[in-house]
Formats: sequence, structure tokens, C-alpha cells
Amino acid sequence: MIKRLAPGLGGWGSWPPTLTAQNAVRMGRPGRWLCLRHTSSWYPLRVATLSPVRQKTSPRHAAVVRVTHWLTVVAFVALTVTGLEIVISHPRFYWGEVGNVNVKPAFTLPIPASRDTVPTGYKYVMPDQNGWSRYLHFEAAWLLLFTALAYGAWGLVSGHFKRNLVPVRGERGWRAIWARTRKYLRRSPPGRQEEKSYNVLQRVTYLVVIFVLFPLIMWTGLAMSPSFTGAFPATAWLVGGRQTARTLHFFLTWALIAFLVVHVVMIAISGFWRRMRAMTIGRARTEDEL
Ligand code: HEM
Repeated sequence: MIKRLAPGLGGWGSWPPTLTAQNAVRMGRPGRWLCLRHTSSWYPLRVATLSPVRQKTSPRHAAVVRVTHWLTVVAFVALTVTGLEIVISHPRFYWGEVGNVNVKPAFTLPIPASRDTVPTGYKYVMPDQNGWSRYLHFEAAWLLLFTALAYGAWGLVSGHFKRNLVPVRGERGWRAIWARTRKYLRRSPPGRQEEKSYNVLQRVTYLVVIFVLFPLIMWTGLAMSPSFTGAFPATAWLVGGRQTARTLHFFLTWALIAFLVVHVVMIAISGFWRRMRAMTIGRARTEDEL
């Protein structure tokens, strides 16, 4: 093996040659190198360990979690893009039941509208993409609703929420949440335990997203649907009217977008490809190369 790595050895010097493995940084060679002293040749030490290093993996995310997670991402992206298009058609927000150009808005977005009937202060209108946006928004909303129902039912029946998302005993308090937040802020690497399970901050955030933000955004979405509120009027009046539902829907969207940004940044910080691999093929590496 050494002969193959150091072909100059064949006819020169004595056998075995004097081998020293040392850190040759000071000689301008970062990393561990092997020195064949009789030829004064240097070879990278890593090449000498050609035996394959087995990476052990273990199951991480259940198939239901992975499939529903990625369906949620697709639906969420479609809903966000089309939602923005819908907002542009009337960038004014109201409280209560009624909202139109004759009603004083609670606030107005400082952007031009895609309809010339809406007063915005701008002297031009944006391209109107409302047709396909509305169709796609409603289709993506149903996809999200059914995906969420499947995930929610499975999570309850299988004990996933209780086992993997409810904070473990001893970590159910602000102190534990703050301790983990400080670790993130100091950019400390996640411990081995976090390869196999969520930390307290993730658990609490996911629970809020799953059990607070998602139900509310779906509710306020349904509260804007005339056919749904025709059958279930309480959906709208319980939140204070159709326009209140629209305004809340808008704020909830921003809360979810903020979650998404932080979620992806955190994943990037704590090992993007490793975590993506676990959320895609379901297995996580349990042992790194030595
Ligand atoms: C491109 C965007 C996204 C990426 C790359 C991504 C990636 C991931 C990854 C890798 C995990 C596992 C975390 C870990 O092992 O530490 C995860 C979990 C999770 N993500 Fe995302 N995610 C994305 C978008 C979203 C969106 C839009 C939502 C919902 C609004 C979401 C909600 C969740 C939830 C609730 C979990 C925990 C699932 C469970 O274990 O039951 N993610 N995500």
C-alpha cells in the first residue's frame, strides 16, 4: 500500500523507511501528513487510510411526517404567492363585517393596486393576476387542510405529538427555552441528542405553528368564504366579521412567513443537508467520520 502511495520508494533507501506522521502546518501543509524520511517526501495521511468508513444511520422522521411536511411546503408557497396577488387587488384592510372603497380602512398597504377602482394614491395599476391566483389559492388551501387533517389525526393516534413535540419533563419552562435560545445565539453546535430529537425551542415553536397558527389561518380563511359561512355563519361572527377575518388572515400569514424564515435559518445553522436528508429519506446519520 505504501509502495503504491509512494512510488519513489522502490529502488532507494532501506526498507522499512522511517515514517513519521506529524502536523505539517508550519511547513505550509495544513492537515496531517506522512513523511518518508529517507526520501524526504510528504504524503497526505488521509490517503493512507483507504478503508471505507461506514456511516451509521438510524430512522429519524416517519413517512407520514415527511410526506405531509413537503406537501405543506408546496401548499404554503402556492398560498403565499397567490395570497400576495389577491391582496394587491385590494390592499386596504378593515375591521368588522363590511369593507369596500367607501369604508374607512383600519390600514392601507403603501403599494399600488391591481384594480383602478381602489384608491391607493398611485397613478397606475399593477397587472391583474386575480383569476388564476384565486383558483390556485383555494386549491392549495384544500390541499393544506386535508394534509393538516391527515398529519393531525396520525400525530394524535400514533403519539407523535406527545412523544416528539411536547417538551420533555424538566424542560417545560421559560428557563429551558431561554437556555436553548442562548445556545442558538452563541451559535453553539447542537448536541448529539438533537440529531435524534427536537430541542425544547423547536418543540414549542412547532406546537404553536401546528396547534395555534395553522388552525387560526384556516379558520379565518374559511370565514371569508361566502359558501362556507352560508352553511356555518358562526365561523365569521365568532372572529368579529368577515373583514376582521381577512385582516387577521393577513397578520397570521406574516407570522407563518416569519416562522418559515427562522425555521430555515435554524436548519441551515444546525446542519442543513443532514436535516434535509432526514426530512426527505427519513434517516439521520448517527456517527460521523472519525
Ligand atoms: C423550504 C422550506 C422548509 C424547509 C427546508 C423545511 C425543513 C424542515 C426540516 C429539515 C425539519 C426537521 C427539523 C429538524 O430535524 O431539526 C422540519 C420540521 C418541521 N417543519 Fe419544516 N421546512 C420548511 C418549511 C416548513 C413550513 C412552510 C412549515 C409550516 C408552516 C414547516 C413546518 C415544520 C414542522 C411543523 C416541523 C416538525 C414536523 C414534525 O416533526 O412533526 N416547515 N422542516
